[in-house]
Amino acid sequence: MVVCFVHKLVLSGLGTVSGSPQSNQIYCTGELLRQVQQAQLFTDDKHFVDMPLRAKPEEVLGQFQQLVNATPGGGALSRQQLAAFVEAHFFPPGQELQAWEPPDWTSRYGLPPALRLWPAQRHLPGSPRALSLASPPPPLRGRGDSVCDFPSRDSFWIIEGLLLSGMAATAEGMIQNFLFLVEKFGHIPNGGRVYYERRSQPPFLTLMMESYLKHTNSTSFLRRNIHLLEAEYRFWQQQRAVNISTGGQQYQLNRYRVPESGEQGVLQACAHQPPQQSLWAELKTAAESGWDFSSRWFLPGPRSTQATLRDTKASEVVPVDLNAILCRVERLLATFYRELGEAQKADSFQAAHEQRVAAIRAVLWDDQAGSWFDYDLLQQRKSTAFYPSNVAPLWAECGVDAAVVEKALGYLQGSSALSYANGLPASLARTGQQWDLPNAWAPLQHMVIEGLAKSSLPQAQELAFTLAQRWVRMNLAVYERHHAMFEKVPSRSGGEAPLRCVAMGPVRLSPLQVGFGWTNGVVLQLLDRYGSRLTSTGALVTPMLPWIGTCLALALL
Ligand SMILES: *[C@@H]1O[C@H](CO)[C@@H](O)[C@H](O)[C@H]1NC(C)=O
Ligand SMILES: *[C@@H]1O[C@H](CO)[C@@H](O)[C@H](O)[C@H]1NC(C)=O
Repeated sequence: MVVCFVHKLVLSGLGTVSGSPQSNQIYCTGELLRQVQQAQLFTDDKHFVDMPLRAKPEEVLGQFQQLVNATPGGGALSRQQLAAFVEAHFFPPGQELQAWEPPDWTSRYGLPPALRLWPAQRHLPGSPRALSLASPPPPLRGRGDSVCDFPSRDSFWIIEGLLLSGMAATAEGMIQNFLFLVEKFGHIPNGGRVYYERRSQPPFLTLMMESYLKHTNSTSFLRRNIHLLEAEYRFWQQQRAVNISTGGQQYQLNRYRVPESGEQGVLQACAHQPPQQSLWAELKTAAESGWDFSSRWFLPGPRSTQATLRDTKASEVVPVDLNAILCRVERLLATFYRELGEAQKADSFQAAHEQRVAAIRAVLWDDQAGSWFDYDLLQQRKSTAFYPSNVAPLWAECGVDAAVVEKALGYLQGSSALSYANGLPASLARTGQQWDLPNAWAPLQHMVIEGLAKSSLPQAQELAFTLAQRWVRMNLAVYERHHAMFEKVPSRSGGEAPLRCVAMGPVRLSPLQVGFGWTNGVVLQLLDRYGSRLTSTGALVTPMLPWIGTCLALALL
């Protein structure tokens, strides 16, 4: 039964975390959590773990224990008792955030409605109420109207949008939030909640610094914080590296991998066929990648509808995009250290960059197909399915020369992915997962467009423009129709079945996210790059989105 375990994923014990042990006993594991979930007090499992405490965790736990001790029959509280206890000791979710007006607000592109949809959220410091947040300093920006986690992956595109909008101070505040998290945890957790702490997310922090410096030249900010950029990189090298032998040589690359926690936690509430710890770890690994969930992680293929979430083996995949990001991080750290006059460090990062270029070339590049592919560690071969992330090295400028661009262009042109009128789908497999056909996601469009646009090949630049034109028109059409931007859109309208958000029954649901930071950030960047050429007339597609408002999507875990 798939239903049950996805449902509970977010609540599984995440082992030792560096937050207070008492707050972990409330939000990650322990009797209170178990009883609340078993009684199904809330329709959304994440509801309870997002509720801030009204008092110190040890006090709340103490009171709960008293109640348990006073309850005959093994201490199982009635539903009513539990509801009363939760109401007395917890605030509703979201109370630790408050609306916040960025001080440097401007509107440069005449698109303020889209931008104003970006929620600004700020953490209220200093009270036990905040304990379910991992305490970053203000300001904190979220991704959508109702999401108060802060994935750095989303924020990378949001920050670009802010910088283009002249909001460098707000962008700096966001980067500072992430630096704070690296200082505290040694890496960037998957979200600001204690239950996310063992899971990271794609390493975009150094790229955010690059964006910020491009707009501000603030060497002093870089100098103050470069050790934290390096710390985040070390986390990936120490915790997420893997060696691969091919052609008589050994290469080191990186993968996503959340360790098994060994804790059952509330899993026991899930009576029949509880999933293996290893599967839990794989699902969390998929969440760490940001592609949660996708046939991209279903091993071994074939990537058909027969494969299910249960086939997720994300840690056995060496992803092209992760390694492209790290390749760019290494080059940037070399550049940054050189600017700061630290030649030795600069040399060592330059060497790491060159090693990765060689590794990507040897392990991930397929000269015949003209593309890079994820590497399947189980079967020790490339997985040749299409994902927009396959061409991420173009965007990262990692081992790219004219011949490579020409081949990659041919690969894209030969792919049926280009035939989707609204944008490149996340994959060509229809599985019901949200990072699969038919969904198109803004950051993936942007990576491909940027990668092509950066090349010196006119045909590649032209394809970049075509994709940009499509994407901007489609978002405009959606915006005009729904007065909102969305986290994802179907890659084709008409003829396509309506987007199926959930294919596995009653998994944890949350409304489709509107807002939506990265979609806005990408549109702003495309307007910035192509503003003079883009046209809004003659839009080929007016996407019908019958699912908005009624359809539900899996939220990020
Ligand atoms: C940053 O420095 C570069 C090179 O000195 C200069 O061309 C650019 O205009 C500067 N940008 C800002 C925002 O000051
Ligand atoms: C890869 O191999 C090198 C050299 O043999 C070793 O130092 C390194 O620790 C290995 N890395 C991993 C992730 O196993």
